[in-house]
This record gives sequence, C-alpha cells and structure tokens, in this order.
Amino acid sequence: MHDCIRDFWGILLLLYAFKLSNGDVSYSIPEEMKRGSVIGNIAKDIGLDLGRLSARRARVDSEDNGVQYCSVNLNTGELLVQERIDREGLCAKKTSCILKQELVLENPLELHRFTIRIQDINDNAPQFVDDPLRIEISESAVKGAKFVVGRKHCELILDKELDREDNNELSLVLTAFDGGSPQRSGTVVIHVTVLDANDNAPVFSQTVYEASLPENSPPDTLVITVTATDADEGLNSEITYQFDHVTDDDNSNVFFIDSKSGQVVVKNKIDYERMKSYELQISAKDGLGLVSYATLIIDITDVNDNAPVIDLKSVTNQIPENVPPGTQVGIINVQDRDSGNNRQVRCSLQTGVPFKLVASIKNYYSLVSTEQLDRELVSDYNITITATDEGSPPLSSSKTVHLTVADINDNPPVFEEQSYSAHVTENNKPGSTLCSVAARDPDWRQNGTVVYSLLPAEVNGAPVSSYVSVNGDTGLIHAVRAFDYEQFRSFKVHVMARDNGSPPLSSNVTVNVFISDVNDNSPQILYPSPEGNSFMTELVPKAAHAGSLVSKVIAVDADSGQNAWLSYHIVKSTDAGLFTIGLHSGEIKTQRDISESDSMKQNLIVAVKDNGQPPLSATCSMFLLISDNLAEVPELKDISYDERDSKLTSYLIIALVSVSTFFLTFIIIVLGVRFCRRRKPRLLFDGAVAIPSGYLPPNYADVDGTGTLRSTYNYDGYMTTGSRTSDFKFVSSYNDNTLPADQTLRKSPTDFSDVFGDCDHSPEYRPDLPETHRYC
Ligand SMILES: *[C@@H]1O[C@H](CO)[C@@H](O)[C@H](O)[C@H]1NC(C)=O
Ligand SMILES: *[C@@H]1O[C@H](CO)[C@@H](O)[C@H](O)[C@H]1NC(C)=O
Ligand SMILES: *[C@@H]1O[C@H](CO)[C@@H](O)[C@H](O)[C@H]1NC(C)=O
Repeated sequence: MHDCIRDFWGILLLLYAFKLSNGDVSYSIPEEMKRGSVIGNIAKDIGLDLGRLSARRARVDSEDNGVQYCSVNLNTGELLVQERIDREGLCAKKTSCILKQELVLENPLELHRFTIRIQDINDNAPQFVDDPLRIEISESAVKGAKFVVGRKHCELILDKELDREDNNELSLVLTAFDGGSPQRSGTVVIHVTVLDANDNAPVFSQTVYEASLPENSPPDTLVITVTATDADEGLNSEITYQFDHVTDDDNSNVFFIDSKSGQVVVKNKIDYERMKSYELQISAKDGLGLVSYATLIIDITDVNDNAPVIDLKSVTNQIPENVPPGTQVGIINVQDRDSGNNRQVRCSLQTGVPFKLVASIKNYYSLVSTEQLDRELVSDYNITITATDEGSPPLSSSKTVHLTVADINDNPPVFEEQSYSAHVTENNKPGSTLCSVAARDPDWRQNGTVVYSLLPAEVNGAPVSSYVSVNGDTGLIHAVRAFDYEQFRSFKVHVMARDNGSPPLSSNVTVNVFISDVNDNSPQILYPSPEGNSFMTELVPKAAHAGSLVSKVIAVDADSGQNAWLSYHIVKSTDAGLFTIGLHSGEIKTQRDISESDSMKQNLIVAVKDNGQPPLSATCSMFLLISDNLAEVPELKDISYDERDSKLTSYLIIALVSVSTFFLTFIIIVLGVRFCRRRKPRLLFDGAVAIPSGYLPPNYADVDGTGTLRSTYNYDGYMTTGSRTSDFKFVSSYNDNTLPADQTLRKSPTDFSDVFGDCDHSPEYRPDLPETHRYC
C-alpha cells in the first residue's frame, strides 16, 4: 500500500526558469499566488522607460481568453497577480502549464509577449473517492492474492489467509501521500468484508447419539433430536439431515428423521422381539454438500406385549385308571418371547382336578397325577393350564388339555339284588320265564359287558341245567321243564355274572325258585280201601250210643294248602239218619242210639273232596255191621277176596291182625285221657275201630315201595287224623299264600288248635329251616 502511495501520487513538479532567447520574457510563478503578488518587473526586463508607461497605457492582454490573470503596475513596471491562478484549473494534468500573456503599449503601439509558466504547488492532499472503501474478499482467497483498491495503482495483497469465521470484517486505514513538499496525504478506511467460503462441514453435537425407546411406541413418537451446526453461514450452513441408507434398508423404514429439524420419530412398528437395538447413520449435509456423519443407537426396551405360550409336549391322552398317584401324564413347555421379568412365567392348574404341575427343567413342567383315578367316577378331565408372566401388567394365557382315563377291568359285575326269588306254579310250561337277574358292571365296553351263566349244581340229583336255563345276555331265567310241586317246592340256582374283561371278574347270586301248588292231585283215600272191598267192614256195637265213633275215613291229598284241605261227605247211606261223618275229621259217628230195628248191614258211600279250584274228589264205600260178634255176620265169609288184589291189601290184613290189639289199647288210652281231661263221663268210643297203623302219618312211609307212596313225598294236611304233625304244615301252607286271602280258612292258628290238637309250635313259616324241620 505504501508503494501505492508513491505510485499513486508520485508527481513532482519542477519549476524551470527560463528566458526566451528571442527577447520574450518568461516568468515562472507558483500557482495560487495572492492577488497583487509581484510576478516580475517587466518594464525593466524589457527595458521600458518607466515614466512612459502610463502615457503609453501599458496593459496586459491574455492571448486566448478574457481572463486577466495579471496586470502591470504602471508606476513600477511590475507584473502583478490579478486573478487566482490555479494550475490544475488551467492545465489540469498537463505536464507544463504556461500562460501566454502580452504587454501592450500604445504610442506607439508596441507588443511584447511574455509567458508565465505556472508552477504547481502541492496544494492538494491525496483524496479518495469513496470513503469508506468497501471491498469483499472471499475467505478462500489464497495468500498473495491481489485485490485492486484504486483504479490501478493500488492493490491489496493478501498476506495471510482470511477466516470469515474468525473475523468476518476488516477495517483498514489507507493513507495516500503525495510527492509534494510539504507532502500531503489522504486517508480512507477500507472495509474489507470477508466473504464466506464453505469451508466448514456441519458438525454434530455428538458423534454418537444414544436413545432408548419402548417397543410398540406409536408412530410419530419423538425418539431424539440430533443437531449439527455449521460454522458457515447462509446456504453453507443450511443443514439437511438424513439417514444414511446404505447399510440397512430394513431399519431405515422404522424411523424417520426430519431433514430440517433433526427430529427422529417412529415411523413403523417397533418390535423388541425382532430387533433389540438399531444403529443408524445420520448424515448432515450443508447447502453446498459438505457432509458429516453421526451414529444413532436406539436401544429398544421391552414391553410386556407377548403372552406366554403353552406348548403341550407328549401328553398321554389315555391314562389307565390304575396308574399310581404321582404318575407323569404329560410334559408342558411354556415360553414367553419377552425378556426380563416379562419373561418370567408362572404356571398353574385349575383346582379340583387330581393333577398338579411339577416344575422340571427350565420352562418345562410335568403334569402329574395326585390321586388314584377312577374311570367309573370321572372318565375324562379338561385341565386348564394357565401361564402368567411377571410383567406389569401381567399377561397370561391358558390351554386346556383333555385327558381321558382308560378303563381297567377293576369292577366285577354286581347283581342288583342280594338274591332273587322266582315263583312259579307247578305244571308250568317248559320254556316259561321264571325271573330275570341283572348285574351291573360300570367298566367300559367288554370290561363291563356282563354274561350270565348257571353255576353247575344238582337239584334232586339232576344237573340244575335240566331244570332252568339262563339267557347269557339278558339274564332271563327260563324253566327247562315243568315243575311238580309234589316233587319239590323250591330249589336254589346259582347264577354267575361274568364280564368279558381279561382277566374276567365275576360274582354270584342265588335264585330261589319257589314252586306253588296247583290242585292237580285228587284226594287219595287210604282207608277204607277205595275199591270198596267188603273185607273192610267195621263192627258197630249194638249198644253204641249216639255220637259214638264207629270208624274214620282216612284220606290224603298230595297237594297242599287248600288243595289238600279235605272235606268228607256221606253221599249215600243205607240209613240216612244213622251215621254222620265229621266234615273235616272224617270220623263216622252214630247220630242216634242204635236200635234193634236198624238193619244190621249198613253201607255208606263217602266222598272226599279237596278245597282246590276246581275241587277234586274221591269216593269210597264203607260197610258197617251192627253186631257185637263178628261171627254173627254170615255174609262175612262170603266176602270175596280178590286174589289179585294188591299186595297192599294182604299187608293191610296182616297189619290189621297184628296191631289191632295194641292199637285198640292205645286208642282207648288216648280217648280215656282225653275224656278225663274234658270231664266227659261218657265213653265216646267203645268199639274197636280198626285203623291200620300203617296209614297214619308220618309213618306211612314204612309201607313198602309198592309204588303207591314214595318215601320222599311229603304229604301234609292230614286233617282227618287229628295228628299233631299235620296242623303245622297246614298252617304253613296257609301262610305260603297258597290260599287266596279271602278264603274262609283265614283263621288264627289257635282256631285250629281245637281241631288239630294242641300244637304248641309257632305256626310261622320258617324258611331258614330245612324242609324236614318245618314240622312241629
Ligand atoms: C371336555 O371338553 C370337551 C370338549 O370341549 C367336552 O366335550 C367334554 O364334555 C369336556 N369334559 C369335561 C369333563 O368337562
Ligand atoms: C379292559 O381292561 C383291561 C385291563 O384290565 C385293559 O387293558 C383294556 O384296555 C380294557 N378294555 C377297554 C375296552 O377299555
Ligand atoms: C361263584 O361261585 C363259583 C363256584 O362256586 C366260585 O368258584 C366263585 O369263587 C364264586 N364267586 C364269587 C364271587 O363268589
């Protein structure tokens, strides 16, 4: 710059004094002399006579213009400055500035030229056009760069590089010196504005930003704001943020960065379980493309958004009911995709089921039975397993396991009744149904399928299967043959119910078959012989009084109860008024005293009728001989004796002969005792009633096996004999309900005691007694 000053105003004006050789006078004066200043004495220089000057009217004329710069003093002849002489005005930048003047004289006209060389004086200080000077220099200008300040002579040379960011404006004072003497100077302030060059890249406030964000944050959630600053200005500092998408395209879709504000917000769903942290490159670019980078690390924090997942591994669907408590029936795996506490899972079972969960290795549970299972009580279980995590709020899920209890053949068939009774009337049809048995088995399918069968046994020496059969499926018991009450009245059958399990289970039940009587047997007259044999003649003493017992009809009925309750009637007699027969005793008594007029031979036809429905009857004839002496009976010898008669008859005869004496004695004793007890003075029976002891129950079984009677037959209801052994059986039959309830025989047992004698035994039916004990 100082060079510049020299260069700029390096003007030195030299004044040269000279005399025009041809007589012209020249003067040199500095410019700007005061008016009246003496330039020189022209009169003397030219050689003029002073005294003559005024006369000659000396004056100065300028050649070219009318401005009269100088004048002549007529008295002294001196040239005087008339007007301001400004060299710059007259000659501007001309190197020499000469005023050509003429001195004019009159009388005679005389013209003398003279020149005034105007000498410059340093009357101007250097001056600047613009004050202040403003120039702009880019900061990017390199050292040595030149900047023109003035027209051409002055340049600013950059000594040291500028930094706008340090100092964006410089003020310099430029001084300009001229070469004059005294030297003059001018100053100007140069305002240098340092223009920005984009020399600064944006700078992030942190090189690594870290943010934490809960997963599932909704879109537009602000994550972080990144800031970068650019020291430049204007366009150079306008920063645009963006993700550097080069690395990972997936992640870039999750977040959005506002290019202007640097705010990073959520754009898409954030799933911790998919991505636990994001690392994003963020670039900041200024307007002219300078870029810098920062790293944004976003840690996603877990939110309890995943419920536990229950996975059933190897569940035994069919659990045999006999597994012991503590048996593992399934394995359960529980997972939670969350982390931390959100991942901690507790498992529970609903209460009231005989199972529990036992934690085994991590996340695995065993489903274990806690009690003995019973399929027949509960055959299947729906077990709900609930898993709850420890998040806040906790999430839970549940799963239902369907467990079925498999059957084991652990229940035998059980009959519905302790025992069964079947009542059947005799002479039933073979194949008729007696009763049905039923057994229940709660087991499953074949383990609970019941099959009925008869247990082998014997009834009266024959296999039970020849009497009854059982339907294996239905339990119906059928008669195989017709039963005969007179053969047996009851028998037991054992029925077994067995299931089809393996091994099978079974149970037994007793079926009591009771056979009830039907009036299928006619009364059988034992005495007298039904054939009406004339040998069977009773002797009636002539002296017999009214009411004397003369004989007795003895009959039996194989049936029982009403069917065996016999009544006796005289259906025909020689003398209708003479004899009566006890309706139920069969005792034939005289109705009046025997008189001489009565026919010696009396003949009675007696009908014996049972009380069955319909009644059956039998008849017999009885011959009575009114005589005191058997020898008086002439016809007796004539009584034909049928040699072909049964052996029974001959035995009866032998028996009659052998025991009649003894029996007669016995009867007399009995009647005597009875008579005494009843204080009856009269002997009711004084005749010999020849009743063969063989006919008397129960000993008639001693009669030999002619086929008529069988020892195993149990006859009862010997109403006519008065035997003490008969009444109880009668009552038992009565109590067996063989009689309809409205029958007349509904009497108390004591009612019969008069009829049947003093039976002290209870007439109750005693089913617990064997049959042979049922007699009193
Ligand atoms: C178990 O669930 C099944 C199917 O929902 C249903 O049929 C069955 O009756 C349920 N069993 C029990 C014991 O609740
Ligand atoms: C019957 O029980 C046996 C074990 O006693 C068992 O093995 C079988 O599976 C059962 N049958 C059915 C049909 O459940
Ligand atoms: C049923 O009777 C049979 C034959 O008498 C016997 O072997 C079996 O043990 C009995 N069963 C039961 C359960 O009483």
